[in-house]
Amino acid sequence: MDCRLSIMERVHWIGVNDRETTLFENFWPLDRGVCYNSYLITDEKVAIIDTVKFNKTEQYLSKVKEVIGDRKVDYLIVNHMEPDHSGSMKALVAAYPDMQIVGNKKTFDFIRGFYDITENFLEVAEGDELDLGYHKLKFFLTPMIHWPETMMTYDQTEKILFSMDAFGGFGSLDGGLFDDEVNVEFYEDEIRRYYSNIVAKYSPIVQRALGRLGALDLNVIAPTHGPIWRTSPKTIVDYYDKWSRYEAEEGVVIVYGTMYGNTAKMADYVARIISENGVKNVRVYDASKTHLSYILSDIWRFKGVILGSCAYNMNIFPAMELVLSKLEHTGLKNRYLGVFGNKSWSGGGVSAIDAFAEKVKWERIGSSIEATYTPKDEEFKALVKLGKEMAQRVKDNPL
Ligand code: FEO
Repeated sequence: MDCRLSIMERVHWIGVNDRETTLFENFWPLDRGVCYNSYLITDEKVAIIDTVKFNKTEQYLSKVKEVIGDRKVDYLIVNHMEPDHSGSMKALVAAYPDMQIVGNKKTFDFIRGFYDITENFLEVAEGDELDLGYHKLKFFLTPMIHWPETMMTYDQTEKILFSMDAFGGFGSLDGGLFDDEVNVEFYEDEIRRYYSNIVAKYSPIVQRALGRLGALDLNVIAPTHGPIWRTSPKTIVDYYDKWSRYEAEEGVVIVYGTMYGNTAKMADYVARIISENGVKNVRVYDASKTHLSYILSDIWRFKGVILGSCAYNMNIFPAMELVLSKLEHTGLKNRYLGVFGNKSWSGGGVSAIDAFAEKVKWERIGSSIEATYTPKDEEFKALVKLGKEMAQRVKDNPL
């Protein structure tokens, strides 16, 4: 085995990059690729922790073989069953039919259901241990980060936490495998996008899990996506802590749905006012153009949010409806909210955002501003007031 792919002498990365898949979960853009990390421990017993997506099975199996040669795999530890990690399980079982599959009570329903595998199960519960010889593993059940069966595996000997989706992110590993080998700023964006798109709904559960994991002595955090954190595991723990507490930076995200440009005109106008009032991070998105994935990530990052929509068949513009529905679903809290939009022969856009505001209970900045046909002096004046007040609030209280 190439030692450059080893985390410790007997702990190896056998993950794969995927730059062909266009959409993660067939929805979230993968412009910068993604990696599926899998790990192999060569001890008196050989253990693999998670596998990779089915489109990479052949490459994956050859990586296993490259490390262990003619040895057999004794255990496959299944931290998470989503098919981006379990997709090569069936092939691995075919290659190593005596291998025991380690999971918790909920894991095995998924294995039977997805892959029709029904035997060689070794069930573990919270705090159970597995002795590989030198490496002593311990299991922590972390349901709903990101599915009900999810768990983490802690190598007590080397102090490595195999954390599955938690602490992971989008982005392929382009040469650099470890946090000290990559530009962490690049991965921060991709990790926050992953967090806000995939994990965010379970933020309260992430907070509870961080509380439990805080007691562990950690040398390395090895997630199933993104870099391995061997130099500064605290960096990724701090990101997750901040995002799962809904903390945000100074900045405002303006998202709008427009058909013929009148709502867009209002968005640009209020953006200019906010900028004139000293906020440097202002992001303006046309919801029809920019994928929801990036909009969510920035809303997770910044404290101020201004949402606008034209009326569309007596309702909200469809692209904005998706933004609102996903925001409500994630349960994001602690944002300042401004609302604007446009109507002509009927309303529907602004009233839908008002209804959303009632549900999410973000702090409203000013009243909703709704133009008729085109924005006029009255609306522009109201946008000045909104922009100034929003700028002041995010500067005074970014977190
Ligand atoms: Fe990376 Fe929940 O799968």
